[in-house]
Amino acid sequence: EDDEGQEEESKDSPSEDDSSEEECSDEDVKRDEGEEEEKVAAFSEVRGEEEKEEEKEKEGKTEKPSCSKEACQPAVFVPVDRLAEIQEARLKLPVLAEEHVIMEAVRENPCVVLCGETGSGKTTQVPQFLYEAGYASGSGIIGVTEPRRVAAVSMSHRVATEMNLPTGVVSYQIRYEGNVTDGTKIKFMTDGVLLKEIQKDFLLQRYSVVIIDEAHERSVYTDILIGLLSRIVPLRNKRAMPMKLVIMSATLRVEDFTQNQRLFPAPPPVVKVDARQFPVTVHFNKRTAMEDYTGEAFRKTCKIHRMLPSGGILVFLTGQAEVHSLCRRLRRAFPYKPNRECTGEPNTHTHTPGIPSKCPALPRIDLDNYSALPVEEGDEGDDEEEEDGDEVSDLDLGDNPDDYDEKSDPSIPLYVLPLYSLLAPEQQAKVFRPAPAGTRLCVVATNVAETSLTIPGVRYVVDCGRVKKRFYDRVTGVSSFKVTWTSQASANQRAGRAGRTEPGHCYRLYSSAVFSDFSLFSEAEITRRPVDDLVLQMKDLNIQKVVNFPFPTPPSSEALAAAEQLLVSLGALEEPPREGRVIDLKRARLSCPITPLGRAMAAFPVSPRYAKMLALGQQQDCMPYVIAVVAAMTVREIFDDLDRPVAKDEDGEKVGQRRARLAQNKRLWAGQGQSLLLGDLMVMLGAVGACEFAGCTPKFCEENGLRYKAMLEIRRLRGQLTNAVNAVCPDVGVFVDGKMPPPTPTQVQCLRQVVLSGLGDHLARRVQSEELLDPKWRNGYKTPLLDEPVFIHPSSALFKTLPEFVVYQEVTETTKMYMRGVCAVEADWIPKILPQYCHFSAPQENPGPRYSPDSGRIRCHCESTFFRVGWKLPSVEMD
Ligand code: CDP
Ligand code: MG
Repeated sequence: EDDEGQEEESKDSPSEDDSSEEECSDEDVKRDEGEEEEKVAAFSEVRGEEEKEEEKEKEGKTEKPSCSKEACQPAVFVPVDRLAEIQEARLKLPVLAEEHVIMEAVRENPCVVLCGETGSGKTTQVPQFLYEAGYASGSGIIGVTEPRRVAAVSMSHRVATEMNLPTGVVSYQIRYEGNVTDGTKIKFMTDGVLLKEIQKDFLLQRYSVVIIDEAHERSVYTDILIGLLSRIVPLRNKRAMPMKLVIMSATLRVEDFTQNQRLFPAPPPVVKVDARQFPVTVHFNKRTAMEDYTGEAFRKTCKIHRMLPSGGILVFLTGQAEVHSLCRRLRRAFPYKPNRECTGEPNTHTHTPGIPSKCPALPRIDLDNYSALPVEEGDEGDDEEEEDGDEVSDLDLGDNPDDYDEKSDPSIPLYVLPLYSLLAPEQQAKVFRPAPAGTRLCVVATNVAETSLTIPGVRYVVDCGRVKKRFYDRVTGVSSFKVTWTSQASANQRAGRAGRTEPGHCYRLYSSAVFSDFSLFSEAEITRRPVDDLVLQMKDLNIQKVVNFPFPTPPSSEALAAAEQLLVSLGALEEPPREGRVIDLKRARLSCPITPLGRAMAAFPVSPRYAKMLALGQQQDCMPYVIAVVAAMTVREIFDDLDRPVAKDEDGEKVGQRRARLAQNKRLWAGQGQSLLLGDLMVMLGAVGACEFAGCTPKFCEENGLRYKAMLEIRRLRGQLTNAVNAVCPDVGVFVDGKMPPPTPTQVQCLRQVVLSGLGDHLARRVQSEELLDPKWRNGYKTPLLDEPVFIHPSSALFKTLPEFVVYQEVTETTKMYMRGVCAVEADWIPKILPQYCHFSAPQENPGPRYSPDSGRIRCHCESTFFRVGWKLPSVEMD
């Protein structure tokens, strides 16, 4: 339950599709000729090749279409046998009024943009319109992409129910599962799944229509899909196997799609649907913003439940862990027992026998002065550790926690449900069912409930105003999740959820001044994240000139060049001709083709640096360790903060004692000799190993200074990476059963080399005594990237060792610039493992070149230097 998965991770990245067995096999490398031609034609401008498409067509290289013209240009009407009450509910949806306009636009144009407020019926109805118009009556089917798995699953069920068709006909496919059959006519899927299908069949011949839903979210894969489809659709139409593209957005801000000459030379028409929306009164907090927004959300929800008339409550938080924490507290405050006899209508405030209600009449109150209301409930604080930090008592509202005892508080039960992307589908489905009689529905959600899902009966929205986003640090190259303010557009979407069925209220846990500082819209994800993984995925699609790709919003050319440079260094892309010592990417015009190693790396759901480690991990039976180290490096903060205030005198142990014991633990995990040289990564490996050995219990983690949620996340990732490795190299057969014996010294050495191969651009060298001009460089390390010295942190396993060469995971600046995740490497490995970063001298005279008859090669000694900084490295034997 507490699995703290990151909200964004639930998006399916195409490289995470471990259900595919053919991934990156030889077959994949030897791409189908015909398919290759199609891509060349579609992206001739991208590939910088001047082939004339018409000529190709004359050569007769086109494939026989499996989706015939008749099937894609429907003339038939396919009747759907809906239940009367479904039909009645549909007729109330705003898109129904526009059915003719929408279908006319689709008939007349290859691509149509449809804008309509959330809840207007786009996702559930448009696929049905297309089905009825016969778009799925031939061999082609209707595909719908969603940026989130939860939407793909629940929408397929909803549409199947509405159409009175089995789930085999209206199906879904997400990363791990699906129910698609040969008889599938409408297929909901994540954008990552469709991207993966394009890698296999560039023309998407199975589909007669592709609907890109939630395009306003501007998720990276949605953006790329739109770019790809802008080329696939004309190509299909030219090949007499027409295909339609429908882009659906919940906001009117679609000019990135429509006013983009490069993307669509002929701007697609925009159809707008006017949604019927009841007025929502927005209430801002008086205080600017509270750090403890989970606590504040708890208090507001309690108040709403106790004081306001019936109607569901929807609370927006940022992540899974917060959602669960608030659900627990609300359930304790207003317990609902399923087996208790309840009377009354669903979702209403009927008095329940045996539970005396404090507010049986639910007085109407002045909602506009809500924040000045007297407060009845307090916050007893959670006895389980929460990430949100200390519980702040709300001085503003003047409540005294002692006056309030949650357990004895008699009230109407609150039917509390969590909702987030990674939640199991059957749990997700609960939010759409009526709440049990005599209870009030309260859904605690992440931003999945913002636009993708409409929860019936919501009248009150509590909005924390924040969102969890992935951020990227340009200096260290490491991305992380951070909670930040959302945009005005998102906040308004959230508020809108309260006015679907009747007038509603939205309580914002921040002031109007804070709101006016929000950005107007959320930026496209692509502009605020590193693009190295993306560039790798596109190269895997054989799109070589990524810089010419028709992105709806292009990433900066510097970001693309940096990505290309990194991928060349990692060996994922072919090295362009060197201009003297330096790879001249400008001259190579950013069009390096992918290598077989790059194809293998593209199949791993981690950033390319870590993917390289996985690709090289199968030596000395090291793979389970490489997987564990990569998983641990990907999850942030696996150790508890030692400065975190702990309960005084916990088990009689003083804070200082605990600190000393935990430090001792880390030393134990770091080991001696060879293992110690793996440094902080050995500590992580030791921690993961010890924790798994103990069964990964909360108790073990608490006692040993590990974050339980991080350890669960590592466990999940290890499973996922193991599947990915097994899919790429079935012969390896890695098996992770949790428990791992400690690695042997040979394995540790191998691990250090594997880590060096991935973190080559994060190499640092201790400042030599002769270079020590300035005292600030004492015990400092020099890196090729930074002008300032960086240091090994006192808490690092290598703080006392100070090896000459280290690689680090990232640099963080506190009192000094500290390297985190430090691992010692040997100088003589550098020219061998990172030749791309080295400069080699002409062959040395002594010992002179030697001919080896076995290999037929001439070997000689060369001096090597690390070319960016000119560090002298040991000479090496080279061919
Ligand atoms: O896509 P859009 O936001 O425009 O609307 P939709 O998701 O198609 O939802 C249309 C209506 O169907 C909403 O009023 C939802 O409440 C309802 N719906 C439902 O009752 N149960 C579901 N599982 C999904 C949607
Ligand atoms: Mg929708």
